[in-house]
Amino acid sequence: MIDPETLIIGSGRSEITPEEFRSRFSTDCRFNERLFYHQGLEGIKTYLESLGHFDRVICFLAIPPSAYSSTAAVLAREGFGEEAVIVIEKPFGRNLETATRLNRELTESFREEQIYRNDHYLAKETVQNIMVFRFANTIFEAIWNNRYVESILIEGYEELGLEERAAYYDSAGSLRDMIQNHLMQLLCLVTMEPPVSLDAEEISRQKVDILKSLRIDRCRKGQYEGYRLEKGVDPESYTDTAAEIQARIENFRWSGVPIVMRTAKAASRTETRIVVTFKNIPRLLFNRKGEIAHNRIIITVQPNEGIMLDVAGKIPGINLEIGRSKMNFSLRQSYEQDIPEAYQKLLLDAINGDRTLFVSADETELSWKVLEPYLEDPDPFLYRKGKTPFPLDREK
Ligand code: BG6
Repeated sequence: MIDPETLIIGSGRSEITPEEFRSRFSTDCRFNERLFYHQGLEGIKTYLESLGHFDRVICFLAIPPSAYSSTAAVLAREGFGEEAVIVIEKPFGRNLETATRLNRELTESFREEQIYRNDHYLAKETVQNIMVFRFANTIFEAIWNNRYVESILIEGYEELGLEERAAYYDSAGSLRDMIQNHLMQLLCLVTMEPPVSLDAEEISRQKVDILKSLRIDRCRKGQYEGYRLEKGVDPESYTDTAAEIQARIENFRWSGVPIVMRTAKAASRTETRIVVTFKNIPRLLFNRKGEIAHNRIIITVQPNEGIMLDVAGKIPGINLEIGRSKMNFSLRQSYEQDIPEAYQKLLLDAINGDRTLFVSADETELSWKVLEPYLEDPDPFLYRKGKTPFPLDREK
């Protein structure tokens, strides 16, 4: 819970009164009293001091990315360089060069441990569960390698299209918007070695090792039909609204296991999931004809959060028929608690100084680096709105 003494202070260029600022929120009145507004960042420290004593300042930069460095510099100049943390939204750069520059500029004002780079996927319940699932159980880790795993698929599909975000999206595209950050982070969590502790630095070290061993073999991009007619989109835009990456991880655990990451807007369904497909059993006993489906573990990040283990089993009846039995763990059915919004968790962690679910400078730079050769690829193929552009991997 947030300490009841916490103050929330909005700051921006507009000249608005604290009352006007408060009226934008529907918090309960106890909290309303703790909402303030200060125009511009200059003098904000004096303003905070005038409101009372404060221990910790969290600066959440909900501003255009082009203003991140200059805002960080003003905050440092205002005297927050030693004690504040800054929370930064994506996009964090648009390629390796801009991300590296941004990291460098931010560290001119703040130390790395004061910089919280948001990737809200990391705070989703099922995503937090990946590490628990892998490292709090004995039964999975032994088979989590290239001896048993045949392939890994990570998909992030959305039915939604642009949603009035052309100004940002048309200059970004799906590779930058979803794969460089969200899907890449999922891949790291699924494939990294166990860290020696849960410290943010230790976890990040393992993710960095994955990103350093990641090789991309192929990238395909798509654009939904009608995208160029959307409001605010360049009528000759080559921006990708879908992308597929085929990759591999060249390390002892994963060498030889194909990895596919796919994302699409205006797809036929909204779903984010990780499918780990295991190698097939030998062709004898029940599988003489090779008809038994591969075992799979499907981690559904959303919307039906859960983990499913797909195994072969006997279909009840007189004959010996083998079917698929799904052992399904559904988060919502297993627990009564509400699933918190990712942002609730992230903001609380920032307030509590826990950086575990934030992205390090090295992670951002390495994930840009690996995608760099594909960022400017022109000529996406066209796909129909409402159709998922890549083959569905539903029943293999
Ligand atoms: C954002 C992207 O980071 O993630 C959006 O900019 C995308 O384009 C969104 O729609 C998806 O997040 P969620 O939580 O809805 O899956």
